[in-house]
Amino acid sequence: MGKILVTGGLGYIGSHTVVALHESGYQVLIVDDLSNSEREVLSGLRDIIGFSPNFIELDLRDKSAVAQLFSGHQFDGVIHFAASKAVGESVENPLLYYENNLNGLIYVLQNCVAHNVHNFIFSSSCTVYGEPDHLPIDESAPIKRALSPYGNTKQIAEEILHDVCQVSEISTVLLRYFNPIGAHDSALIGELPKGVPQNLVPFITQTAAGLRKELSVFGDDYPTPDGSCIRDYIHVMDLAEAHVVALDRLMDREQQEPVEVFNLGTGQGNSVLEVIQTFEQSTGVSLPYKIVGRRAGDVIAVYADTTKATEILGWSTKRDLASSLSSAWAWEKRIRGL
Ligand code: NAD
Ligand code: WQD
Repeated sequence: MGKILVTGGLGYIGSHTVVALHESGYQVLIVDDLSNSEREVLSGLRDIIGFSPNFIELDLRDKSAVAQLFSGHQFDGVIHFAASKAVGESVENPLLYYENNLNGLIYVLQNCVAHNVHNFIFSSSCTVYGEPDHLPIDESAPIKRALSPYGNTKQIAEEILHDVCQVSEISTVLLRYFNPIGAHDSALIGELPKGVPQNLVPFITQTAAGLRKELSVFGDDYPTPDGSCIRDYIHVMDLAEAHVVALDRLMDREQQEPVEVFNLGTGQGNSVLEVIQTFEQSTGVSLPYKIVGRRAGDVIAVYADTTKATEILGWSTKRDLASSLSSAWAWEKRIRGL
């Protein structure tokens, strides 16, 4: 099987994907600058796969270091997770986001061209759709003006990849993730947010663990059945496995176009209040929460039409919301020693 460069491979989605790649026989080299992850993730990976994966600490903004990386290794494919991902921070510091998310991508692509690496997978986001005109949302829906610099980096990155794949031998799969949650069944790896979590599920598990007093539900006056926002929460291992299927397709040269785009979600929308209720039911832990005002920039409802991924990739999710939330809780309990 092939040797795959996984950028950002010590991060949340990257680390779970490393496990799925290993299970499918791929050899992995992880590159990460540890800006939003910890070296200890390697120990979790070692305990799951039986050995510590190859890792190089490297900042992808360092152009000559990226060139050196590609001179020293022949890769069969790249999965490019590395990016900064905090929406609020991107509003406060847009240049950091444009620099990191775009320069990193450009340097990696320049070296893919120079070293004949033809298979590329990019982490995109449902954020490129903005507020959908209809639901569920499919891949042909229009890309609307981004609501944040972070979202804009994903839109620009998609355009860069379209342009590069037109004039090079690189084939790309753009994977638009909906809301990844949960952790590996072993609870040896999971999500490690720095500071106060901005995302719903880590805030829920930290509240249940007693680190936060209560969860604030951002709005119950939206035009949805219970008034709270609706999202498509996908188990991170389902997401990880989709990367392997997409990579197999690239390696087998089954790709129909230079760039293919797939939504990765469950196809099911759940409201914030439903997530709380499912968390309480599946873990037996009661969660203190209060309703507060809306959060600026939140879309009302978004969930995926997954027909394309099902039909073309032959992939669909295997885990439901309850098991995703239970796995997130198992991980939180383990890291807090509960
Ligand atoms: P994460 O922050 O956990 O992982 C990203 C990793 O990239 C981190 O380990 C970080 O240290 C590393 N990194 C960042 N900049 C780097 C650089 N210049 N050089 C080397 N390493 C660098 O995030 P994640 O949730 O695993 O997200 C992975 C990808 O998926 C990102 O591109 C993100 O934008 C995208 N995405 C995430 C979500 C989500 O909700 N988690 C949703 C849609 C898309
Ligand atoms: C989910 C729902 C909140 C926290 C973000 C990015 C998006 C993508 C995924 C990368 C919303 C509500 C949340 C809380 C709450 N990332 N909520 N109280 O906003 O769908 O997407 O992460 O590409 O780009 O914007 O995810 O987990 O922040 O929120 O009520 O303390 O939970 O209002 O309805 P979101 P989220």
